[in-house]
Amino acid sequence: AIERTFSIIKPDAVSKNLIGAIYNRFETAGLRIVAAKMLHMTREQAMGFYAEHEGKPFYEGLVKFMTSGPVMVQVLEGEDAIRRNREIMGVTNPKEALAGTLRACYADSIDRNAVHGSDAPASAAREIAYFFTDSEICPRA
Ligand code: CMP
Repeated sequence: AIERTFSIIKPDAVSKNLIGAIYNRFETAGLRIVAAKMLHMTREQAMGFYAEHEGKPFYEGLVKFMTSGPVMVQVLEGEDAIRRNREIMGVTNPKEALAGTLRACYADSIDRNAVHGSDAPASAAREIAYFFTDSEICPRA
């Protein structure tokens, strides 16, 4: 089925000038970018976005990293978009990510891992609504 998923190009990848390279990977894989913006998250924004990780040992470092510089946030649309985006990204830890995935190619570590993508339909809906209003999303024919 056609799905939407939420994606972040994290501060490490933005700082390395990889926005276009990563967008190319999404588009080559058949995902369409139907909404996008650059923003520098506030501490409150990052804490709310990652609320499910509150209390975990990496939470404070994650919030600091995600607010350390601008990110690109986007909504990707396409057949099986949630799973397809996770395949393109590779697993969270770049040391375990399959060759050719975004994290294998571009991530420095599990903390500075280049991209985020929703892991399920419910989180995709929540994450899209966290950063975009309905009128900011431009579905394509
Ligand atoms: P992300 O998909 O953005 O979701 C939470 C982030 O926390 C994750 O990517 C990683 O960059 C970071 N992180 C650091 N340590 C861990 C860990 N042990 N398990 C999961 N995520 C971690």
